[in-house]
Amino acid sequence: MPLRLDAPREEVLARAAAIVADAWRSFDQFRPGQPPVDDFVRRLVEQGLPDAPASALEVLGDAATVLDRSLAQTRPRFFAFVGSSGLEIGVLGDLLASCYDVNLAAWAAAATEVEEQAVRWVGELVGFPAETGAFTSGGTVSNVTALAAARERALPGSRRNGIGGPVAMYCSAEAHYSVVRAAELLGIGSANVRALPIDGARRLPPEAVAAAIDRDRADGVVPVAVVATAGTTLTGAVDPLDGLADVCGERGVWLHVDGAYGLPAAAVPETASLFAGLDRADSATVDAHKWLYLPKACGVVLVRRRAELAAALQHEEAYFPHERNEPHAVDITLEYSRPFRALKLWLAFRAHGAAAFRAAIGRNLRQARLLYEEVAARPELESLCGPPPLTIVPFRHVGGADLDGHNATLVRALQEDGRVWVAPARVDGQTCLRPCIVNFRTTDDDVRALVDLACELGAR
Ligand SMILES: Cc1ncc(COP(=O)(O)O)c(C=O)c1O
Repeated sequence: MPLRLDAPREEVLARAAAIVADAWRSFDQFRPGQPPVDDFVRRLVEQGLPDAPASALEVLGDAATVLDRSLAQTRPRFFAFVGSSGLEIGVLGDLLASCYDVNLAAWAAAATEVEEQAVRWVGELVGFPAETGAFTSGGTVSNVTALAAARERALPGSRRNGIGGPVAMYCSAEAHYSVVRAAELLGIGSANVRALPIDGARRLPPEAVAAAIDRDRADGVVPVAVVATAGTTLTGAVDPLDGLADVCGERGVWLHVDGAYGLPAAAVPETASLFAGLDRADSATVDAHKWLYLPKACGVVLVRRRAELAAALQHEEAYFPHERNEPHAVDITLEYSRPFRALKLWLAFRAHGAAAFRAAIGRNLRQARLLYEEVAARPELESLCGPPPLTIVPFRHVGGADLDGHNATLVRALQEDGRVWVAPARVDGQTCLRPCIVNFRTTDDDVRALVDLACELGAR
């Protein structure tokens, strides 16, 4: 039979399992440095297209080497970006899902039921009344999916006829770029995204949104949607959802909540009040591959009314008729071929229970507060944004006249050192370190190590 492995499959599977077990052991603790991309890896990646087979056990070993020399967000001292942390049960979910490789464009029997159940569970966890939703590749696709529904509600028939007149969308100046991208892809136009100035807490002021909508309406511009960010990517600010829901409710404008990063914090008592009003939104984005710890890709789009999502996306094609009297998944999704991403979240909720997720999120929140306090206690460090609303703590090292240059150099030095991993950012034009804590493996000592190393290398 063609495309068979050269070794017994149990043996190959055991080798893969051993690689995973070694990786999990290594992720349990920080490692003292990041190994370089060495000559062995260089030789591997310089090879041309192989025509002849190689031993499956050998190529798996090569993959393990490549992965070991790659940056893994799973490691406890990886503080860059809004990462994912490769929850173990989720890794197994990915393996099982790709083994069965069900077709989630169409009805897929039990898998379809599980996806729907997992959507309901996410809605319940964060407190959003989702009548429908789907698993996506992430926040970018979730945002464009929800905003397609918003566009069709604001301008019925626009999916067919195009927009045909002036339109606008509203968000804060610190919304994620995927909101602009959605405006580009949906024909709204990036120039028509009103990225409004933020308030002192870096949030979108509802009065400014109300004024912008009213001004636009008076000028004959159709408002398509307001996008509130529940946890901005730069600083973790949560826009005032209640006030924005009032503005949108009074004016009949779609409210989408981009909670790709922050929405899991709605599930814990420490931060739940920041998200008051979420239950009045029309749609929401949550990335389980961010703060629900699952491996990428595991985005979720939640929509209040199924009919509004279907109105934007439902279709009938000769090669894909509705023969079962049931909608296809692609009547509510942007992608056709989709892996069974819901399985890993479904497994994770079942294996750990929602309480364990709430506890892990609460721990990350306390660690962010610890980081903020450690920064405040060091005269050579300064925090740029005050106490963190969620788990992003931008700070910088104060040394020399050119603070921006100094901190850019510090980030590079920290990356070359490899004991922690951080990325740079600019807050109000100031270059800083922007650690984000969304990893269940991170300990309080890892947080303290970041501060110690920033001081040690900053002084150098
Ligand atoms: C608030 C927000 N929205 C959207 C995204 C995009 O998500 P993804 O990378 O999963 O497409 C991000 C990514 O960090 C984000 O922080």
